[in-house]
Amino acid sequence: MTRSLVTGGQGFIGGHLVRALLDRGDEVTVLDLRAAPGRALELHGLTDAVRLVEGDVADPAAVHRAIREAGSGSAGPDSVFHLAAQTLVGPAAEDPVATFRANAEGTWTILEAARDAGTGAVVVASSDKAYGPSESLPYRETDELKPAAPYEASKAAADVISRSYWPAFGLPVGVTRLANVYGGGDLNGSRLVPEAVNACLEGRAPQIRSDGSPERDYLHVSDATAAYLAIEQAVKDGPGRGEALNAGTGEPCSVREVVALIAAEVARTGGEPVEPEYLGDGVPEGEIDRQYVDASRLEGLTGWRPRVSLADGVAEAVSWYRKRN
Ligand SMILES: NC(=O)c1ccc[n+]([C@@H]2O[C@H](COP(=O)([O-])OP(=O)(O)OC[C@H]3O[C@@H](n4cnc5c(N)ncnc54)[C@H](O)[C@@H]3O)[C@@H](O)[C@H]2O)c1
Repeated sequence: MTRSLVTGGQGFIGGHLVRALLDRGDEVTVLDLRAAPGRALELHGLTDAVRLVEGDVADPAAVHRAIREAGSGSAGPDSVFHLAAQTLVGPAAEDPVATFRANAEGTWTILEAARDAGTGAVVVASSDKAYGPSESLPYRETDELKPAAPYEASKAAADVISRSYWPAFGLPVGVTRLANVYGGGDLNGSRLVPEAVNACLEGRAPQIRSDGSPERDYLHVSDATAAYLAIEQAVKDGPGRGEALNAGTGEPCSVREVVALIAAEVARTGGEPVEPEYLGDGVPEGEIDRQYVDASRLEGLTGWRPRVSLADGVAEAVSWYRKRN
């Protein structure tokens, strides 16, 4: 049986990943901050199916405890998925040091513990945000990382530090650079999709912070989870070691288009028609105007490709939030 540790398993993507790991028969341990009610494990009905270690990824004692509990005897876990992070762009700009502590120090703390324990595969969450603003799109893995804001820099730091552990220490580690992930189960109300879906379901106008023009690459969370598993396998097999791999649809989509799709889906399934309100003038400060990724390297290495169309993914998300409300 594979023993896996998921940091950030109480979060949006982590919760889905934990479910996928349990489905394939893993024994799963989660390291996350002290659980508030209604977090991912509870949402997915998995509280009793995993071992939960409450602690901070930047605290070596908590991380060593999690690695020990996730492993067997003196051996560490077979796989470590490191997703725990301060994930919001606005709070990162307000308190960069706290974000660097969670995202950069948290990453090297995990890497050191995984190195000590002799872990078989480590997969670390970077982000397409690590590339920073660029005129040259789609982002490719060969592009330089040019972060221009604290969240972007924190992810770029985690990305670079993680990849160095393969050549420097022989730690089998790979890095994910996912596009914008969406789908049922995201309780981060400040993100576009949850906010727009909830607003439309409640019959109020979604308040959009931009003029609707920013473009993103929207990846359904089931495809994101599959990308994690594909990258884990590529790390185990060899070609993913020391590599960062993009995962996205490769299709840019404007905020305006996504919100229109959401509003149309809510109306089609019996909700009130609503008109979004665009409050901003251009792109909100500190955010990137256009982002999408080329995922052909991941596809070439592993066969992974996105399976869920935006229309189907939006329908899944609307149905999930409707059931939850
Ligand atoms: N959601 C996206 O669109 C997206 C895209 C690309 C990359 N990512 C990355 O994927 C990972 C997961 O993202 P998500 O959307 O699930 O985020 P999330 O905010 O829903 O979950 C993050 C989890 O990490 C935990 N956490 C935060 N700081 C911690 C700390 N110091 N110690 C222990 N746990 C801590 C939180 O409690 C939370 O459960 C993150 O690393 C994020 O940067 C997310």
